[in-house]
Amino acid sequence: MATFTLPKNSKIKKDGKVHKADDAKRVKGFKVYRYDPDTGKNPRYDKFEIDLDECGPMVLDALFKIKNEIDPTLTFRRSCREGICGSCAMNMNGKNGLACTTAIEDLKGNVQITPLPHMDVIKDLVPDFTHFYAQYESIRPWLQTVSPTPSGKERLQSPEQREQLDGLYECILCACCSTSCPSYWWNSDKFLGPAILLQAYRWLADSRDEMTGERLDQLEDPFRLYRCHTIMNCANVCPKGLSPAKAIAETKKMMAERAI
Ligand code: SF4
Ligand code: SF4
Ligand code: FES
Repeated sequence: MATFTLPKNSKIKKDGKVHKADDAKRVKGFKVYRYDPDTGKNPRYDKFEIDLDECGPMVLDALFKIKNEIDPTLTFRRSCREGICGSCAMNMNGKNGLACTTAIEDLKGNVQITPLPHMDVIKDLVPDFTHFYAQYESIRPWLQTVSPTPSGKERLQSPEQREQLDGLYECILCACCSTSCPSYWWNSDKFLGPAILLQAYRWLADSRDEMTGERLDQLEDPFRLYRCHTIMNCANVCPKGLSPAKAIAETKKMMAERAI
């Protein structure tokens, strides 16, 4: 259910801390969202000045510098630091992206960093992915077959069949797309959102999968698939250059074709 104002305890207070870098020559300001449910206090923004001559080039480097040298309580997710795991997804200067592949110099002025929008926040920059992963599980994201497995062989694909998965298998489930989709903001309880729908199409497009009809049946619903209104935020924001909107359009086409 959509809510249009923040609950009282989510409103951002203006009492954040400020950390200066007085002796630095190349200073960049970072305004970072802070929230710790254990304190019972509302969220705030802390401001950190970072000496760019003493910091790596990416936003994730700046977050590490803050955590290692200024405030060890700053909490964020990361693992691979090379755009593979998807765990450092966050909002930087109003746009979702991966902190490890976003260069500081590409962000104008002071950098404002918040968690991915419209998700519950566990702490600081860490959103709660429980609902997102439950939606992922709901599309049964694994190969489903009914025919017997060829003995001693893999289920083979031609190069052309394998090509159908390009633009789909690269998805790292970072949720940058879903959390920038207005339809998902307002209906995430029922609409699967672009990331999960791209994953659903990944299995519809797989020549080895034998549950196409059942997969389409599961998506045939006014909300799960059809809440996409082709606003295209998802394709504009994907850090891997994928187009969930195109995958959604292909799924709608499969629905229409089987209805004829
Ligand atoms: S194209 Fe569809 S899924 Fe993508 S942002 Fe727009 S409404 Fe959301
Ligand atoms: S489609 Fe792109 S933005 Fe969406 S979850 Fe996958 S990698 Fe992330
Ligand atoms: S740390 Fe893995 S994608 Fe950024």
